[in-house]
Amino acid sequence: MSSHVQANRMSIPAIEQRKGAGTLVVLTAYSTPMARWVDAVADVIIVGDSLGMVLYGMPSTLGVTLDMMIAHGQAVMRGAQRACVVVDLPFGSYQASPEQAFTSASRVLRETGAQGVKLEGGEEMAETVAFLVRRGIPVMAHVGLMPQQVNSLGGFKAQGRDESSAAKVRRDALAMQAAGAFSIVLEGIAEPVARQLSEALRVPTIGIGASAACDGQVLVTEDLLGLFSDYQPRFVKRFADLQGQIVQALDSYAQAVRDGSFPAAQHCFKAH
Ligand code: KIV
Repeated sequence: MSSHVQANRMSIPAIEQRKGAGTLVVLTAYSTPMARWVDAVADVIIVGDSLGMVLYGMPSTLGVTLDMMIAHGQAVMRGAQRACVVVDLPFGSYQASPEQAFTSASRVLRETGAQGVKLEGGEEMAETVAFLVRRGIPVMAHVGLMPQQVNSLGGFKAQGRDESSAAKVRRDALAMQAAGAFSIVLEGIAEPVARQLSEALRVPTIGIGASAACDGQVLVTEDLLGLFSDYQPRFVKRFADLQGQIVQALDSYAQAVRDGSFPAAQHCFKAH
């Protein structure tokens, strides 16, 4: 996979150096065509385990496997030439032990050519993150609303809205920085906590539902394109309504087939 290491690709140190600028553009991608489009504008592409819900119709991310993440990571690497690519470690592939996490993360880097992995967790994952980082695996941390903990959290609920939850988010983020994470996704976190953390941490914070105070922003690309579901979380802004356009195009196709206007002469082959 060394052919993926390109001189003009955004590196992990280059991402770390963007601390404080507030301009890191981060997006998700799961496929080669989407990676090509996103690569034109993003500094970092996350191959998120949100693909379980967005592509596979799962109710949560818990059913996503390491093999699925590797297959989609490979697809994204075929389309992305310049962005830094980070692949999510899915539920159950890293929580058991630092050794299990190393086995999973090294497979991801070796088989996809991506530059880093992302994993969810705070203080309880610090030993694991330090273990990976010491062995050459760049880790992006993910704290606050951690979708893989949906059962323990009792739903996809914003965090840091009361003092004890805010204190936990702070402890988690500081533990991830101390363990060597090169950046930290802050998901679904009350604005004052996100602001305070973005000021206090040396590593870039990447917000999703965590306010403009973060060093960068990430959205699930299908959400911002209006391609996913009718449910729109508060933190998503739709920059397009592609779902509406798709429905209209499919309807036009079906009508054209039924009224005989498609295929027309220009779509047919003539005999020699
Ligand atoms: O799974 C995912 O897509 C993510 C990003 C939204 C950060 O974790």
